[in-house]
Amino acid sequence: MDLVEPRDIRITCAPALSPFLAEEVQLLGLPLLGQTRTGVTTRGSWTDTWRLCLELRTAFQVLYPLHAFRCSSPDDLYRAARGLAWETIIAPDGYVTVESRVDHPSINNSMFPNLRLKDAIADRFTEITGRRPDSGAGRRGVVVHLYWKGDQATIALNAAGRKLADRGYRRSPHKAPLQETLAAAVVLATGWRGDQPLALPMCGSGTLAIEAALIGLDRAPGLLRSSFALNHVLGFEAGAWSAVRAGVRRRARKDLGVPIVASDIDRRAIEAAQRNAETAGVAHLIDFHVADFASAPMPADPGVLIVNPEYGARLGDEGALRATYERFGSFMKSRCAGWTCHVLSGNRALTGSLGLKASRRVPLFNADIECRLLRYEMWTGSRPTRGTGSPVPGD
Ligand SMILES: C[S@@+](CC[C@H](N)C(=O)[O-])C[C@H]1O[C@@H](n2cnc3c(N)ncnc32)[C@H](O)[C@@H]1O
Repeated sequence: MDLVEPRDIRITCAPALSPFLAEEVQLLGLPLLGQTRTGVTTRGSWTDTWRLCLELRTAFQVLYPLHAFRCSSPDDLYRAARGLAWETIIAPDGYVTVESRVDHPSINNSMFPNLRLKDAIADRFTEITGRRPDSGAGRRGVVVHLYWKGDQATIALNAAGRKLADRGYRRSPHKAPLQETLAAAVVLATGWRGDQPLALPMCGSGTLAIEAALIGLDRAPGLLRSSFALNHVLGFEAGAWSAVRAGVRRRARKDLGVPIVASDIDRRAIEAAQRNAETAGVAHLIDFHVADFASAPMPADPGVLIVNPEYGARLGDEGALRATYERFGSFMKSRCAGWTCHVLSGNRALTGSLGLKASRRVPLFNADIECRLLRYEMWTGSRPTRGTGSPVPGD
């Protein structure tokens, strides 16, 4: 099968992250052909998927299409899949995982189309080579993705395999961690790029701090992963892959010229954050402390501050949280002159308790909870530094 030919590559993401993903794809020099709430479409070759898997910070999956066809029944699916030259994609002694997203009135369990697709691959192999690859849910080999909606279906190679959000550094998740892709989007939305001090006074297990360090260094998150599904596709050229990885690695800065200070009141959160930062190779760039935010050390010069306080949906109790938000509002007014502060929260009533007016609200989703990333530009002295951040009630 010709994997060199440019095709329309679908890249998926969490709801509301596609504006960030679209920008990332274009910054890599690839065209933006389409955008939905949960993904973008670009055009490129199979080897373009390599860079996408290494570089993208806000994507889940990179899907390179093999065949698009009309499909109104599992038998149509079987016939179309059996006609594809799987023996040029999967080694006969390899491993394949089949996954699908199906929206068709005749299918109420995606296990069935998965099974038909897996059977088609196995039967094709048995007929042509007399052998067949092993299969299962393990994602340790080639991953085949089926998208079937109405009477249209696409069979694609899932280049990443495991979700790209799974960077591999978070061995100690602690309580309510942000997904890595959401944390990266939050940092990108603040505009912080490693050029000014960063403070994270409720850092939890460190996801925002770690994603920020990777962004500040321009270090591609995929370099942290030892393998992707693409490494198992037949004809994979290890030398070319190493060259792509080395090019991406060379571009990264070795150090940041600005401090990242991260703290949390919970000692176990900071221990987890330190372990995670070590695994991600950025612990030397982050100054961790156990402290209440009100007494937490801050960088000497103003910069960007980001917090993701609890907001009652999963953790904590709203009454106690109101007091925390009120105190955090006072903290911003008294200690953050000259800073641009960002608060990610899914509770409007609580952000109202901050007692400050946000200058921008970016809609985001934390799992299925609708959130806002609120920006507060804090005054220095008696005049606004950048026009807003006025201490008036409301969010
Ligand atoms: C929702 S979690 C943050 C999760 C984090 N974004 C992550 O990805 O791991 C909120 C954090 O705020 C911390 N926190 C709550 N009250 C605090 C306070 N007064 N001072 C400092 N940290 C506090 C909690 O210990 C918790 O780790």
